[in-house]
Amino acid sequence: MKFFIDTANLEAIKEIKAMGMCDGVTTNPSLMAKEGRTDTDALLREICDVVQGPVSGEVTTLKADEMIAQARQLVKISEYIVIKIPATYEGLLAISALASEGIAVNATLVFSVSQALLVAKAGAAYVSPFVGRLDDVSEDGMNLIEEIITVYGNYGYDTEVIVASVRHPLHVVESALLGADVATIPPQVIKKLIAHPLTDKGLAGFMADWEKLQGGAR
Ligand code: G3P
Repeated sequence: MKFFIDTANLEAIKEIKAMGMCDGVTTNPSLMAKEGRTDTDALLREICDVVQGPVSGEVTTLKADEMIAQARQLVKISEYIVIKIPATYEGLLAISALASEGIAVNATLVFSVSQALLVAKAGAAYVSPFVGRLDDVSEDGMNLIEEIITVYGNYGYDTEVIVASVRHPLHVVESALLGADVATIPPQVIKKLIAHPLTDKGLAGFMADWEKLQGGAR
């Protein structure tokens, strides 16, 4: 399973890239706003230079023709840019047009199988169902992932499923068990994935015993 990092924070991206855990990055307008930089194209370029893999940048317009125009500008930033388009009626028109131009689209804000089916038919390269936000309203986000994977498998769609709005390690583990193509993970969750109290406890014991041995040898 590919790990994308769900952040626009360059330092976090560099750190996780050094861990070998960064196959790509996803941003959205809220994540970009958190960085407080108004030179958003420059920030996306810097992220692409570090990642050297797919980097999603989102359109900030609502009409199809505006989304298409903005996407055409965004792809000039880097060969790695993927255009995030919301799964709306206008978004679908934009996805269809951009896909026919060979522009990679990540259909975002997906909350239903029907949305996932339509964006795949429109030619989206990626679909981003938001599991955490479904869990927030008492719906089972991971169940949606399972259903989308089933539907895409039924018809051989090559749209890659990005599990998005990941909130905790179990979302990542369940994504891998279901065979999702990608999980886009916040940096703090990536670090939680490696942590285990028994590893820390075991290591403390090994270090203490080793110290004792060195002391006895003197
Ligand atoms: O990838 C989408 C993600 O950024 C949304 O996450 O935690 O705001 O629901 P969240």
